[in-house]
Amino acid sequence: MTIDALIVGAGFSGSVIARLLAENTKAKILVIDSRDHIGGNCYDYVNQYGIRVSKYGAHLFHTKRQDVWDFISSYGTWEPWEHKVLAKIYPRDGCDESVHVPVPVCIQTIQQLYDPSIETEEDMRRWLAEETKNVINSGPFKNSMESAVARFGCRIYNDFFRNYTWKQWNKYPDNLDSSVLERIPLRYDRDDRYFTDPIQMLPSCGYTQVFDQLLDHPQIEIKLSTDYFLERHCFNGVQFTVFTGPIDGYFASYGLDRLEYRSLHFEDFNINVEQNDAVVQPASVVNEPSMRVPYTRTVEFKQFLNQRSPYSTLVREYSSSFGEPYYPVPNDQNLKLYSKYQQLAVKETGKERRNVQFLGRLANYKYLNMDQAIGNALDHWQQWKTEGFLKEMVA
Ligand code: FDA
Repeated sequence: MTIDALIVGAGFSGSVIARLLAENTKAKILVIDSRDHIGGNCYDYVNQYGIRVSKYGAHLFHTKRQDVWDFISSYGTWEPWEHKVLAKIYPRDGCDESVHVPVPVCIQTIQQLYDPSIETEEDMRRWLAEETKNVINSGPFKNSMESAVARFGCRIYNDFFRNYTWKQWNKYPDNLDSSVLERIPLRYDRDDRYFTDPIQMLPSCGYTQVFDQLLDHPQIEIKLSTDYFLERHCFNGVQFTVFTGPIDGYFASYGLDRLEYRSLHFEDFNINVEQNDAVVQPASVVNEPSMRVPYTRTVEFKQFLNQRSPYSTLVREYSSSFGEPYYPVPNDQNLKLYSKYQQLAVKETGKERRNVQFLGRLANYKYLNMDQAIGNALDHWQQWKTEGFLKEMVA
């Protein structure tokens, strides 16, 4: 078919825009992805043991935005799911005894690890005040060590954050911008849920079904295993392109340095647990802040939505500097470099008859939760409508 709009990337950013274009315009839309599946990093599948596994790490949907939920809940079927995470802590150096405690840090965490007498929010505040009394506790903080110690004190910092940050970022917190650990929540109450957003859901039949339905429209064609960078010459005449791939790849010929990312490697193993409802670890996700193991966390997928199987599939996550881009590294150098790419993107977007829009986590060099990726796509759509620049395509 002749196409009016090209969408590069079949993750949430690209798929939501494709759907909005299809429903609101006469445009013929082509969605391409370099991978052999739709869904971007949210892609999941059922493995040989009948367990739904997310190929690129556990994905829990949560949002405060009602408009995002109203939009996405009409694709696939969803059910409530409140996520909980435990961290495996070794309280005594040199001793193999470990405890599993809730994260984010809340009253139960302190009770189990440091002081069983902590009962109320007032106790918690008093305990933290005592822990932080001898440290710099007002900003601006120079780095993430200072910002974390100011809120949590040295014990929690050492048990939970120092080595975990090293494993995750290959840098200790004193070499990372203060904002990285400032984002870590701290609870003064007994709320041991990982997220506090009012809407917390999982798709009953997986994210891939949500994407199947989002992209199921007569005006949308999908071409997988198609890399834009290898085939962009084929799309020169396309009126409108939404690019959700890596921005430094798009402008690779401009000679700027490449942006820095952290990547992940996954190691899965299956255990015969014999009973359909038996599980291996005490929570679906167990964080590993200690240096005793090289991985950062273990996910037991069977626990999401209480799946049943005589087996259990566990996946260990290793953070690394090499491989597919997952997490932008937010330091001064990278953010300055990104702003140069952003200037190129602004020029590209404005080029006459070559409307290119840059959307999503890779094009914006920003970690986005799923609801933020969906929300950004909805917001951009509204803005484009207001500006009227899609009028040639609008029905
Ligand atoms: P996404 O990466 O999904 O899609 C971009 C697509 O573009 C990819 O499919 C890619 O193949 C394609 N592409 C790139 N270059 C291309 C090219 N040259 N040609 C063609 N195609 C190209 N969020 C949340 O809310 N709850 C959670 O629990 C988690 N968990 C989580 C775990 C891990 C390990 C990570 C890394 C991330 C999360 N997230 C999350 C975030 C979530 O994955 C993220 O919000 C969405 O994937 C963003 O969707 P995008 O469409 O922007 O990118």
